[in-house]
Amino acid sequence: MKDFKRYMVTSALPYANGPVHIGHLAGVYIPSDIYVRYLRLRGRDVLWVCGSDEHGVPITLKAKKEGKSPQEVVNKYHEIIKKSFKELGISFDIYHRTSDKLHHETAAGMFKTIYDKNGFIEKTTEQYYDPEAKQFLADRYITGTCPHCGYEKAYGDQCEKCGTSLSATELINPKSTISGAKPELKPTKHWFLPLDEYEAFLRKWILEEHKEWKPNVYGQCKSWIDQGLQPRAVSRDLDWGVPVPVENAKGKVLYVWFDAPIGYISATKALTADWEKYWKDKDTKLVHFIGKDNIVFHCIIFPSMLKAEGSYILPDNVPANEFLNLEGDKISTSRNWAVWLHEYLEEFPGKQDVLRYVLTANAPESKDNDFTWKDFQARNNNELVAVLGNFINRAVVLTNKYFDGKVPERINPNEQDLNVLKEIAEIKQKVETSIENFRFREALKEAMNLARLGNKYLAETEPWKLIKTDEEKVKTILNIALQISASLSIILEPFLPFTSEKTGKILNIDKIAWDNLGNFDLLPSGHQIGKQELLFAKIEDKEIEFQVNKLLATKEQNKEENHEPVKDEVSYEDFMKMDIRSGVILEAEKVAKTKKLLKLKVDTGVDVRTVVSGIAEYFKPEEIIGKQVSLLLNLAPRKIRGILSQGMILMAEDKNGKLYFVAPQDDIKPGAMIK
Ligand code: 2FM
Ligand code: ZN
Repeated sequence: MKDFKRYMVTSALPYANGPVHIGHLAGVYIPSDIYVRYLRLRGRDVLWVCGSDEHGVPITLKAKKEGKSPQEVVNKYHEIIKKSFKELGISFDIYHRTSDKLHHETAAGMFKTIYDKNGFIEKTTEQYYDPEAKQFLADRYITGTCPHCGYEKAYGDQCEKCGTSLSATELINPKSTISGAKPELKPTKHWFLPLDEYEAFLRKWILEEHKEWKPNVYGQCKSWIDQGLQPRAVSRDLDWGVPVPVENAKGKVLYVWFDAPIGYISATKALTADWEKYWKDKDTKLVHFIGKDNIVFHCIIFPSMLKAEGSYILPDNVPANEFLNLEGDKISTSRNWAVWLHEYLEEFPGKQDVLRYVLTANAPESKDNDFTWKDFQARNNNELVAVLGNFINRAVVLTNKYFDGKVPERINPNEQDLNVLKEIAEIKQKVETSIENFRFREALKEAMNLARLGNKYLAETEPWKLIKTDEEKVKTILNIALQISASLSIILEPFLPFTSEKTGKILNIDKIAWDNLGNFDLLPSGHQIGKQELLFAKIEDKEIEFQVNKLLATKEQNKEENHEPVKDEVSYEDFMKMDIRSGVILEAEKVAKTKKLLKLKVDTGVDVRTVVSGIAEYFKPEEIIGKQVSLLLNLAPRKIRGILSQGMILMAEDKNGKLYFVAPQDDIKPGAMIK
């Protein structure tokens, strides 16, 4: 490990607009906890900060939805998040928050320093304004029709149906979600960080000097830089956030992505008066743990801000993870498609390490991954119970049984015994390399190999048989099995801290530093160990069924809620403008070279006219001759595939897109008015 004097580790500040779920944990908080626990065990000088991200539009939207103030919303979620992290053993040195005064001062100070150095460009641009609510609208406050897929509830920054990123001015029929009014474009002044001026610096610093960054991170940075960077607005028209600390900036706050990463600095300030050496001394290794959606902010924008300010160090690495899916579907807060940490902790008391284990073993380190409850159960039962728990339990039970719980002596170890001991040091080495390179799944697998090694050793030497004939040999075997158990309590500490502690208790030892791994006498002979206690319990099918059913219920609920939005109101007069009548199909044929279209001749009672209708996927022409239909008669004629279509057949469409005729139930002459 290239040694730094000290480490400054940060984890993305979660938005305080909802609780934390397994996606957050697998992506950011568990890997960073492993890394920091490892550094601490190695005696490194490390600080680890995190906190709630309490500004930004998602918070104000949530507040509006819940009929509360933004401060009330963040207070609520800050407490839930903080408590659940603690219970899972996520061992931040501080969990701070960005609505704190110290943070406001720190963020405003950073802005002011850059501002005073002429580091921003002031620009006036046209932005959507709600004339009724009398305020500028953030992108999330504007909905309208997606120009790409026609979805009517697309947001001003993204269409959630087709996933396209949008800018608010692209929306068709934009609407303010605050008042429903049609927004108007109005000029407004903002401060921009001229990222284009940092392009050369970023290119050299990342693309040349940090080729060791994870391929997903490096690749995203390269693509941003290669596309050419544009000045980026760092302020917003909003009444929630850090006020822009200059004159004539009423109603303007710092953009949440400007203030949030400064939250790392203010958290460190809140933690120690000695904060500056962790942020400004070149001998500090700064590491940001984040999810992949945060890469640009941590690799491009925040470093440019730090550079503009001038006195800070830059991150040495930004190990971003990909996303974790849940049972094959994207985790989504709004669709409640998630396993929430606070609920897990209630439903699986005492099983923090099971979740930590599964999320590490299955972490989305290089590609998106899937969490399933079946896998959760299998990993617990087949790995934690059958491999790890079983091994330590056997070593402890047999020592208690044969030697009254006193660590027996190692007498004339043979080659097999010595090889097993030697392997501890090899595994230590592998785990170190993996952790230092942010490959935590690999590290955990290696650490678990130590338990596998122990099981194999016991299975091969069979001390329970040997005890009748060769007690001396059994002493050696159990001594070695206990040294492995003690080593496991060290090597697993970063991953499974609760299990490590419990193992330490069973073995009757205090926490041992990492560097003692590989020492063959962690437990001296004669040391009295404690009573056996199960480390893990099997998870039964019914517990898993309960969780799966919970998700199925969510799916059902989402289906019910997922109806088409109700269209805008129309007046009675408008409705009466439509001339809808019953008709009968006289002829039908497919329109050549199309999949969907039928050309119909319809008796409307007024005349016989041609209508082109997109129903060919569901109806054969010969089936629908003589069929009664409802027809919108006065729809402006349109040419479709060269055929003039005069009217529209009314159809009902179900969720799967299947079409049904909508027509009078009984026989009725063509031409009856429908109203
Ligand atoms: O994506 C998010 O959840 C953001 N709240 C992360 C912020 S990270 C940092 F910059 F504070
Ligand atoms: Zn779309």
